[in-house]
Amino acid sequence: MESSNKIFDTYRQKTQRSVDLFKAAGNVLPGGIAHDSRYIQPHPVYIDHAAGSRKWDVDGNEYIDYFGGHGALLLGHNHADVTAAVTEQLQKGTHFGTCHEPEVLWARQVQKMLPSAELVRFTSSGTEATMLAFRLARAFTDRPKILRFKGHFHGWQDHAAFGVSSHFDGTPTPGILPELSRGIVLGSTESIQEVRKRLQDRDIAAVILEPTGGGWGRFPLSDQFVRDLRIATSETDTLLIMDEVICGFRCSPGGAQADLGITPDITTLAKVLAGGFPGGAVTGRRDVLGLLDMDYGKDDGREKVPHQGTYNANPVSAAAGLRTLQIIEKSDACEQASAGAARLRASLNEIFREENIPWVAYGTYSGFHICTNPEGIDIPLSEFNARMSPEQIRNQDSVLIGLLRVALLIHGIDIAKWPGGIVSAVHSSQDTDETANAFRQSVKMLRDNGIV
Ligand SMILES: Cc1ncc(COP(=O)(O)O)c(C=O)c1O
Repeated sequence: MESSNKIFDTYRQKTQRSVDLFKAAGNVLPGGIAHDSRYIQPHPVYIDHAAGSRKWDVDGNEYIDYFGGHGALLLGHNHADVTAAVTEQLQKGTHFGTCHEPEVLWARQVQKMLPSAELVRFTSSGTEATMLAFRLARAFTDRPKILRFKGHFHGWQDHAAFGVSSHFDGTPTPGILPELSRGIVLGSTESIQEVRKRLQDRDIAAVILEPTGGGWGRFPLSDQFVRDLRIATSETDTLLIMDEVICGFRCSPGGAQADLGITPDITTLAKVLAGGFPGGAVTGRRDVLGLLDMDYGKDDGREKVPHQGTYNANPVSAAAGLRTLQIIEKSDACEQASAGAARLRASLNEIFREENIPWVAYGTYSGFHICTNPEGIDIPLSEFNARMSPEQIRNQDSVLIGLLRVALLIHGIDIAKWPGGIVSAVHSSQDTDETANAFRQSVKMLRDNGIV
């Protein structure tokens, strides 16, 4: 498409060193990348350094960052106190292959902020946390299946890889055993009655969900659904796993569960938990996490759930996580981030109206999502959730979205591909104004090139 070529040409001219690095990367990294979400055509920008809400690429271009370390950086890039804690730990050592004080302090801080965390087992990532949570749930209940919801993301492990953006019929994505996919039931958040009915078979060990909606709220979810789900799971002795990998310590210091006033049996955590360093955790009921205990089954011959992991509770992650959580507990960081996102959503909707395009910026807490509304439905924001189906949100024009992202990069903004982003506590009003202006310029660029 000639119009896209023009936008790509402008982008290439601005990001010459990134062009060269992406070429070199193609020879050593499959697809030139390390994470599917980082792919962008014609090439990604290569970032050299970051601070606060901003980052700079290898050509010296500055961006307002709405990736936020995939959601890990609630306090923004290089928060001085977190950097100091990490630096202190680096000087002491990065891996002792044994227990250490920071892991105890970190776990106690998690417990303090998240009352459902009777016990905490650290992992190296959110994916590992959900994998362990499924294993614990199956072992604890002696039931074979996990119920997940379509469009809810729980990492890339085999039990969670399908039914997120494709394979909604439950068939496995390449490389996953069909017998393993049969251990997963894919549900819909559109009907609690259906879920309630399915739980009656009592073969479901646990139901897992993103409590603020699938894809970080890209697919909105009512609080009532989560409340009803808590009741339905309790009534059938099914465990409820809240996947708070992205919303934990972000929606509020006590996560989404504190805001909802719901106590899950198990919570999975990562991202903010480890303050921008690798780390995750499974937390929850003492009797469930007790299956990891070395003494478990000593008296009755039952077998414990095995769990290892070289980087579990890595001291550097523990130092970063502990300091980050302490700051969040004692400050209004979560509120600041949510307020920043609300400000941004309002500004974007104003621009979309003024530019006369049917797009909608929506979301909750510190998230924002953009629906380009290909069917041009006239939706007041208050009716967005009721009027747009998951299919309509999903079936957006990927070429348009790709070009929007490139146009935004040209104008100094980095958003995520779904499309949308994550706001930190240090995004300022000036960031909002600059972002709004960049959106206006980007929409104009797309219009001048005949794309919208
Ligand atoms: C809700 C949720 N669960 C699990 C994961 C997987 O976490 P990780 O990328 O640390 O493996 C993510 C990552 O984005 C997530 O958002």
